[in-house]
Formats: sequence, structure tokens, C-alpha cells
Amino acid sequence: MANDLIQKAMSVRSLFNLDGKTAIVTGGAKGLGRACALGLAGAGANIVIADLDPGNTEKEIAGMGRKAASVVVDVRDEKQVAAMVQKAVDAFGKVDILVNCAGVADVKSIVDFELSLWEKIMDINVKGIFLCSREAARQMLKQGIGGRIISISSLQGFAGRAGDPAYSASKAAVNMMTKSMACEWAPDGICVNAIAPTWCWTDMTAPTLSREDFYSELKKRIPAGRACNQDDLFGLVVFLASEASSFINGAIIPLDGGAIACDGFPEAK
Ligand SMILES: NC(=O)c1ccc[n+]([C@@H]2O[C@H](COP(=O)([O-])OP(=O)(O)OC[C@H]3O[C@@H](n4cnc5c(N)ncnc54)[C@H](O)[C@@H]3O)[C@@H](O)[C@H]2O)c1
Repeated sequence: MANDLIQKAMSVRSLFNLDGKTAIVTGGAKGLGRACALGLAGAGANIVIADLDPGNTEKEIAGMGRKAASVVVDVRDEKQVAAMVQKAVDAFGKVDILVNCAGVADVKSIVDFELSLWEKIMDINVKGIFLCSREAARQMLKQGIGGRIISISSLQGFAGRAGDPAYSASKAAVNMMTKSMACEWAPDGICVNAIAPTWCWTDMTAPTLSREDFYSELKKRIPAGRACNQDDLFGLVVFLASEASSFINGAIIPLDGGAIACDGFPEAK
């Protein structure tokens, strides 16, 4: 027993190796989705970029000496989502990992918030994750070799804010779907978890983060003293995609420099 554990410890690095795995990354053209795709490719996975407009990520991954394919998909469309999973199977023979990263955000006074905008945020952020996860899980169950589903939630899924009747609620729904899916598929070796980043530098957030008044207040709320960078995603997404996380199911892991650990009030001393 002791020797067996030592043997396993000697090969612990291999637990993080994604060689030969296939990962679909929705929203993989830009921002955090692109970062997840690049990180997973760096760890050895073959990547399928799934986006409204897949952009250049496939080429970037090919430039890293890894394999990639692209598929145009609107994650709200059931048929397109089924075709996305089929594309991954056609390109690489199987699906091991799904990263749900396609998402949108908007904030404005709740009394002025149009129903159509509310529905759009809910459709992409919640229905999209339901459809993509369901389709990927069907494929993983058929394969019978387990799998990993990782959704990019948000720190905003733990707290509300003025001007936000949809985004925070959509991410809270993602957190709860993550737990329900984890309960259902854990017996089959499919681990479902979520990453909850705080404000991270992407096209979606750059206009707000670039405001000096906003960023200086934000830094005070984050013990690590900065917003999230895209490469902060690498370690966590690779870990959750890998064998190293095989006993982690239904976790919502903050990626936030300690923001949620801290009450945010001024120092009392
Ligand atoms: N940037 C942040 O600060 C931050 C923080 C926490 C969580 N998040 C979450 O991370 C995810 C990505 O955010 P980002 O900042 O990288 O955004 P982004 O706008 O830079 O990229 C989003 C990507 O999703 C794609 N997309 C949008 N709607 C789609 C649809 N219907 N079907 C397929 N693809 C679609 C877009 O084309 C784009 O490539 C979102 O779910 C967001 O809520 C972002």
C-alpha cells in the first residue's frame, strides 16, 4: 500500500497531462474562452473552438504545434449544439472535456431593463450551458470513459448589484446547474465544476476596467490588489480538465485574488 502510494506520487505530474484528450471550448474565439483554449492546448489537448465567429484561435493553436478545429455555433440553438459535438467527434474521435465559456453581460437601471435584453442574457448564459452540457454528456456517457465539464461562471453569481437583474441571476443559475449535473454524472466519472472569476481583462470588461476611478476602487476590494489576467485561468482550467481533479464534483471555485474571502469593509484597526 505504502509503495503503491509512492509509485503514484512518482508519476503525479502525468495527472495534469492532457495529451490525446479532446476539448470543446464555447466562446473560444476571444477573451477567457480563448485563454482556456490556449491553456488546454498547452497541456496537450486537441481543441474545438465553438463560437458565433470562431476567429483566429484555431490558427494560434496550430502555431503552438497542437491540433485544433473550429465550428460556428450559437449555443442557444439545440441543433447547432448537436452539430458542434458531432464536429468534435468527426475531427478527433471523441469528446473528453467541455468548457462552457460563451457568455454575455449587460447592466443598466433595472426599471429600464428591456425584457428582450434580459431574455438574451438568460438564453446565452443559462440555456446555452444547459444545451452544450447535455449534448456533451450524452456523448461522454456513450463513450463510457468519463469526462470533464467546466463552466465559466462569475463571482457575480454569489452576489447581486444595482443595475443587474439578469447577469448575476444567470451565473447563480449556472452554479446550481453545475451542482445538479455533477450529482447526476459523477457515478459515470464525469466531473462537472465551475470557475467563478472576478473582473478579468477582456474585450467585455476593458472599457470599464480602463476607467481609473473604477479600477482604483476595484483594487481595494481584491486582497491580491489587481483584476484577473487571462493567464490566471490556465492553472485552474487545466487542473479541472485533468485526471488530477477526478474527485472534485459540483465545486464553484472562485478565481478572484481573495475578493470573496474578504468582507470589503474598511480596516477597523
Ligand atoms: N471578463 C470578465 O471579467 C469575466 C468575469 C467573470 C466571468 N466571465 C465570463 O466569462 C465568459 C467569457 O467572457 P469574456 O469576458 O471573455 O467575453 P468576450 O465577449 O470577450 O467573449 C465571449 C465570447 O463568447 C462568444 N459568444 C457570445 N454569444 C455566443 C453564442 N450565443 N454562441 C456562441 N458563442 C457566443 C462571443 O462571440 C465571444 O467570442 C462569459 O461567460 C463571462 O460571463 C467574464
